[in-house]
Formats: sequence, C-alpha cells, structure tokens
Amino acid sequence: MAKDQSLYFSLRCGCYILLFLSFFSSFLFLNWSYFSVDCTCHAGGIESPLVKNKQQLNLLTFPSAWNLLNFPSQSPLKLLKIALFVKKWPNRDHAGGLERHASTLHLALAERGHELHVFTSSFTNLTSTTKKLHFHLSKPTNAGYLDQSTVWKQFLHENSTAKPFDVIHTESVGLMHTRSRNLTNLAVSWHGIAYESIHSDIIQQLSRDSEAGPTSILTERVVKVVEEIRFFQRYAHHVATSDHVGDVLKRIYMLPQKRVHIILNGVDEEIFKPEVSKGEDLKLKFGIKESEPLILGIAGRLVKDKGHPLIFEALRQIFDENSTFRNSVIVLVAGDGPWGARYKELGSNIRVLGPLDQNQLASFYNVIDIFVNPTLRAQGLDHTLLEAMLVGKALMATKLASITGSVIVSQDIGYAFSPTVEELKKALYEVWRDGRVVLKQKGELGRKRALRLFTATKMAGAYERLFLCIADKEKGNEEYCTYNHN
Ligand SMILES: *[C@@H]1O[C@H](CO)[C@@H](O)[C@H](O)[C@H]1NC(C)=O
Ligand SMILES: *[C@@H]1O[C@H](CO)[C@@H](O)[C@H](O)[C@H]1NC(C)=O
Ligand SMILES: *[C@@H]1O[C@H](CO)[C@@H](O)[C@H](O)[C@H]1NC(C)=O
Ligand SMILES: *[C@@H]1O[C@H](CO)[C@@H](O)[C@H](O)[C@H]1NC(C)=O
Repeated sequence: MAKDQSLYFSLRCGCYILLFLSFFSSFLFLNWSYFSVDCTCHAGGIESPLVKNKQQLNLLTFPSAWNLLNFPSQSPLKLLKIALFVKKWPNRDHAGGLERHASTLHLALAERGHELHVFTSSFTNLTSTTKKLHFHLSKPTNAGYLDQSTVWKQFLHENSTAKPFDVIHTESVGLMHTRSRNLTNLAVSWHGIAYESIHSDIIQQLSRDSEAGPTSILTERVVKVVEEIRFFQRYAHHVATSDHVGDVLKRIYMLPQKRVHIILNGVDEEIFKPEVSKGEDLKLKFGIKESEPLILGIAGRLVKDKGHPLIFEALRQIFDENSTFRNSVIVLVAGDGPWGARYKELGSNIRVLGPLDQNQLASFYNVIDIFVNPTLRAQGLDHTLLEAMLVGKALMATKLASITGSVIVSQDIGYAFSPTVEELKKALYEVWRDGRVVLKQKGELGRKRALRLFTATKMAGAYERLFLCIADKEKGNEEYCTYNHN
C-alpha cells in the first residue's frame, strides 16, 4: 500500500515536471528568439504567455510584442472590410509618425487584398493608388480633429450598404470615445499617451532656469492621465506601439491584458536597406571625401522638442575644446525647421541638407556612420531610429522608455544618453573613440534585429492577424486568435 502510494506520487510528480518543462520550453523559445541579439533582461518576459499546450498560445493574452512571432507572408484565406479613422492622410514626404504609420500599414493591408475605407479629413481630393482603398473625406474641425458627426454618418452609410465592416481601426482618437464605446470589433493604436509625456515635461522643467519656479504643466499632465484612464476603457482593443506603453496600459491605465496588444512600428524595408552605391552618390554631392573621418547623421523636424538645442550645444562645446574631434567628425543634418539655420553657425563640420524625400533619406542613412536622435519627445516610437537600423547603422538616442525598452535594448546596437549637455558630450566622445569599425558591428547587429522586428511587412502581418482575430471573435470563433509555433 505504502509502496503504491509512493509510486503514485513519483508518477504525479513526474507529470508536473513534464508539464512544467513543456510550458517552459515554448516560453524559452520565444524569449530566445527575442534575445538572440541582445542579452538584457526585459520586464515583459517575466509574465508567462497563456500556453494551451506546447505548440499553441492565445494571441489576445500574449504579453510581449507580436513582432516576435511569425505570420504568413501570403494573403490570408479570409479578406476583411476594414474602416480606418485617421485625422490626416499623409502627403508622402511630410508626415508625422501617426500618419506615416497609418499609410504604411493600410497600403500594405490593401495590397494583401483587404477592402480599406479611410475616414479622414482633407481640403483637397485624395486619389487612391489601388482600387482596394477608398477615401471618405470631410473637413477638419477648427481644432484639427475629425468632424465626428460627419465621419460617423459616412461610416454608418458605408456599413449599411453592400457589406458591413468586419473591423474598425482608429489611429489615436481619430474616432472619439463617445462613438467607440459600444463597438466590440474596434482597435485603437496609440502613438503617444499622457503618461509618456510626463517624462518630456520633467526634462523641459529641468532645462528651465531654476529661479523661474515650477510651472503648472506637470499638474495638468497628471490630470490628463487620469482623464485618459477613464476614457480609454471605452475602446475595446488597444494596440501599444512600444513595449513600454504596453506595460503602462496594463499596469497604470488598468486595462485587462486581453485587450492590450503590443505591435511595434515598422518601416518600409524595400526603401530602407544597405546600398553602398547610393551613399557614394550622396557623398559626392556633398563633397565628402573618402578619407573623411566619422560621419554623424541627424534627421527629422529641426525643432526644439526634438532635442536640437541640446545637441547643438554639445557639439559647439566639443568643437571648441577638442580640435582633434573637430578635424575628424562631420555632421549631416537632414530636415527642415528653425534649427536648420542655427546649425550653420557651427562651421564647415556641419552640412545642412534641407528636407529629403524617402529615397534621399535612404541614401542619407547609407552615408552616415551613426544616426543621432536627441529627441525629448517621449511619445510614440520614433520611425527614424527604425529606418537607420534597417539600413544597418549604429544608433545614438535619448534614454526614453520607448527607445531603451524596444529599440536600443543593448549597447551592442547603440548608445543611449540622458538628456543633458554633459551626458550627450560623454556619449559623443565615446562614439568617436569607438570609431568606425565598432560602429559598423553595432549597425550590423541592429539590422539583424530590425529585420526580425521592425519591417513594414512584420507590422502589417501582425495587425492583419489581430484584425482577423477580432473579426473572428465577433462571430464566436477563435481560430485566428490561436497561434501555432512550428
Ligand atoms: C473632388 O472630386 C469631386 C468629384 O470627383 C469634384 O466634384 C470636386 O470638384 C473635387 N474637388 C476638388 C477640390 O478638386
Ligand atoms: C453595421 O452593420 C451591421 C450589419 O447590419 C450591424 O450589425 C452593425 O450594428 C452595424 N454597425 C454599427 C456601428 O451600426
Ligand atoms: C451605447 O449603448 C448604450 C446602452 O445600450 C446607449 O445608451 C448609448 O446610446 C450607446 N452609445 C452609442 C454611441 O451608440
Ligand atoms: C580630445 O579628446 C580626446 C579623447 O578624450 C583626448 O585624448 C585628446 O587629448 C583631446 N584633444 C584635445 C586637443 O583636447
């Protein structure tokens, strides 16, 4: 009897161990693929994905970025009718992050065969480049938002003709919470939430004269966070575009895990890729000789909150104090804005290129040795870093949670610095001492990671799967919400 019992226990124990191991192995597999480039520990990794068995997991409760998973590259068996609410549709070369995200993603979805209806504001007619993409235009409100009653009417009209919508996507508050509250087949993507902005506010406050005393910005921001926590509840599904925001939505905004999905931004890998010859052309054009030493690149809107005063001052001081540095570094500045003219004051080491279109921008990344982004805007996930990474360049950027949590996750691919002139100078000296060979290695590791995580194809595949899952669930099905490892 006693013997039987101990046999029973050892059997039971063995089963538990097996169960534990099988659970653990699929979990390890996921993390292994994430960390094969970097070995830092990641907060999101502590939670366990809901594993049904060794090979399957429930996507809706998957706690990490969907970019880590693999989705089929061919068009799915089921095509969706998708409504998109976005306040502006981008003019290709002059667009903020949110609009670029909308067009990159939805053009890709239309190309994969889905029927897209874009509810957006415009003063001029937009022409669709594909017959799968339809525009429903309205005039923006004075505050620059979508006119909610007009777009809602357009939406209901389209929904009642031919075929109803399978899924609704809104870029930020394109569709406001007053209209979204009863829609269960809706997902909202956030490109900046109030909680993230607190970090920018703190940086700004620190840079002010300490005599000037506190401003009310910080208090107002916290009030805004509380407001957001209340109304975010009224959106059924949330897409966080960085790991950090995913965590904040679940922990601070208290949204249930099954309604928060992390899908990191992606950029067009056909445009942003290593092409040595492209870079050489641009080098010639800007009179940069082969023998010329280290080339730093800065791109984007040249405005204060992108950190240009900071890097301007750091470079000015270094050029002043160290002639060796000055004689061996060139800085290329792409983009336009008030700081463009100021940079010229720094002398011939700085070449201001003006605004570049996407192809020129790709050449620009190909010329440089390292991409420097001193941004102070903590909101959203910066596209320029992803572009430079796909071209295979080392990165240098501010220690903001979205950047250190999702992009520069280890020193193997770049440098992160605190937003002060002193810290930025230290980082610039470090980059310079490391030199071109080390930067090239970091760039190559970065490109490997970017190809796995940050391509437009990866992003579109993940959103497509989320939309299929949401549409499926609406019909009481879960097929597309289950992920199979193979
Ligand atoms: C936009 O297109 C419509 C219909 O094709 C036309 O009636 C209208 O005049 C156009 N508006 C502009 C600003 O081009
Ligand atoms: C869209 O149409 C479907 C089918 O008629 C209907 O069930 C659904 O409630 C409509 N959506 C809205 C928001 O009215
Ligand atoms: C949502 O549903 C509630 C309760 O059914 C209703 O009172 C409200 O008017 C609906 N809101 C919208 C925007 O349709
Ligand atoms: C410039 O900085 C480097 C590295 O910190 C240092 O070795 C060198 O002596 C400095 N040169 C001048 C001219 O200050």
